[in-house]
Amino acid sequence: MARRILVTSALPYANGPTHLGHMTETIQCDIWVRAMRLMGHEVVYVCADDTHGTPIMLKAQAEGVTPEQLIERVGAERRADFAAFGIGFDNYYTTHSEENRRLTVRMYQALAKAGHITRRSVRQAYDEKAGMFLPDRYVKGSCPICGAPDQYGDSCENCSGTYTPLELVEPVSVVTGTRPVARESEHVFFRLGDFEPMLRQWTRSGALQPEVANKLDEWFDAGLRDWDVSRDAPYFGFEIPDAPGKYFYVWLDAPVGYMASFANLCARRGLSFDDWWAPGSPAELHHFIGKDILYFHSLFWPATLEGAGFRKPTAVHAHGFLTVNGEKMSKSRGTFVTAQRYLERLAPEYFRYFLAAKLGPGLVDVDLNLEEFATRINAELVGKLVNIASRCASFIHRGHGGRLAAALPDPALYREFTDAGTGIMEAWEALEYAAAVRETMALADRANLYIDRQKPWLAAKDPARAGEVQAVCTQGINLFRVLMAYLKPVLPGIAEQAEAYLGAPVKHWRDVETPLVGSLINEYRPLATRVDAAAVQDLVEKTMPPTDTAAPAPPAATQPAQITPDDFAKVELRIARVEAAELVEGADRLLKLGVDLGSERRTIFAGIRGAYEPAALVGRHIVVVANLKPKKMRFGTSEGMALAASDDTGLFLLSPDSGARAGMKVS
Ligand code: MSP
Ligand code: ZN
Repeated sequence: MARRILVTSALPYANGPTHLGHMTETIQCDIWVRAMRLMGHEVVYVCADDTHGTPIMLKAQAEGVTPEQLIERVGAERRADFAAFGIGFDNYYTTHSEENRRLTVRMYQALAKAGHITRRSVRQAYDEKAGMFLPDRYVKGSCPICGAPDQYGDSCENCSGTYTPLELVEPVSVVTGTRPVARESEHVFFRLGDFEPMLRQWTRSGALQPEVANKLDEWFDAGLRDWDVSRDAPYFGFEIPDAPGKYFYVWLDAPVGYMASFANLCARRGLSFDDWWAPGSPAELHHFIGKDILYFHSLFWPATLEGAGFRKPTAVHAHGFLTVNGEKMSKSRGTFVTAQRYLERLAPEYFRYFLAAKLGPGLVDVDLNLEEFATRINAELVGKLVNIASRCASFIHRGHGGRLAAALPDPALYREFTDAGTGIMEAWEALEYAAAVRETMALADRANLYIDRQKPWLAAKDPARAGEVQAVCTQGINLFRVLMAYLKPVLPGIAEQAEAYLGAPVKHWRDVETPLVGSLINEYRPLATRVDAAAVQDLVEKTMPPTDTAAPAPPAATQPAQITPDDFAKVELRIARVEAAELVEGADRLLKLGVDLGSERRTIFAGIRGAYEPAALVGRHIVVVANLKPKKMRFGTSEGMALAASDDTGLFLLSPDSGARAGMKVS
């Protein structure tokens, strides 16, 4: 029976570009949506940009634009990125919409009326210069527990201790650099604990992956505390109706954005909102999210839905994180791959295929290993799958005018292929993508084996065997058609081209149960071509050698080899004065420095952008390697290296004590 299914992927924050981590989520979700449609279900897929909150407000300020202008621009870029990767949203909206305001207020008022809202005063860090309360991550200082410097206001990366921003030693506002003061303000809270019995039951209803349900048990044991859902002005968001000057915290209205995007679609599509969102609705509601936002989706969200009289999610599907060459995606490591950077180099469906081949239903991280990526595309997608069609295509046109044979020579083999469909479609539904791809590719091996054994290229030399050639290639092309149908959720564009080539659209996966025989097919054009390994490697930025200033500190466990004083003397370290510093167009990690080495001037490209404003560096004394072989880069030649300390928390240039002059030797 056809099911009605509403699907969402998490709403990306509107303060940054789309990256391959976002794409991992939307592609996983889009594959599921397309597979469910291919099985005949009615599926609606909505998403939006998450536009509210302090970071977006501050980012707009820094750019000298209004938040509305910022989210407008990012929203347009985002839509283009998602479209390029073939994400088939029914609606991509924004949380800064009238629908969202209306629904958020409605939810809040219903919660308040039912007694689930309470108020109390909160003491918080306040930046007097900026005139605003500071979110925890906007206060930095030394850890009050272990003393580690430069820690955020919520927890310490050194000792994992947690505390409040005002407990930091020497706290500093990230916004203005001033010392924040403590200030009281009344906040609005949602009483999450009211929903513990419901949540305990919902958790075990099959809505969550087993490992997630276990995690929730830990959270229940720790106790469900009231949730602060208000923020003081200035804040970019929706004002709370009965609390002037206070705004809904972004995480209250963000998931409501799912409903608002759907509501916006209802108006256009003539759908009934209540049919999908009222309690007891027969429609299913599936959320795809990353493991980092589980607390919001498995506790706050079902509780606020229940409390406000809406239906709860049927399922929350959490996935792990995408890593690149085994490392966390990070700007300073050059492994932060934006959607744009990818699209400038490679075909979007290759990433979809790679991901599908790697993804499972669990929370484990997925690694984009670039060598593996190239191999999978070249050996599997091109070398196995598309190869089936390209091996057969020309024979159908040479001598047979593009007409397929009237019958399949090996119907039993064809039946084996179509029989595999049920299992493969079930694998898509269960998010067992790697298994679905594996099975499809095993069939591709069989199809290639069939062609290898029949050797149409030999038979084609004998005019008397023309019928045999046509039959064998008709078989091959039909096997290819079945496999393309199974991979259609992953490769919608390639599948459509294949359907156009064969003149036979596939709307339901069972459409391929009947083979194509006796019909005319079109001229074959390559559906996918091999990737260039260099283009794949170029996904990560590697303008600097691995030992440069922006490289991560070596793990504590690996001791570098010992050197002698003579070895060390080979490195000529000198003090340099920065004369000029500028951004480098096209390199988001580099600054171009002009430095005075006492006796000469040098140009150095340093991977320190992001850590320093160019203007702030001018006049500063730094330490450079002066006898480094000049290194030619895309942007010019680097004539030295600036020394800096770095790890995950940041990057810090080394400087001499005051008094040191340019050109001094360091030893
Ligand atoms: N705005 C919130 C979500 C609100 S949903 C009501 C948010 N935005 S985000 O831009 O930070 O992340 C959007 C989604 O992308 C999240 O599900 C997040 O887990 C996912 N990912 C972000 N980086 C990722 C990877 N490196 N890998 C996989 N998914 C990642 O959170
Ligand atoms: Zn600490």
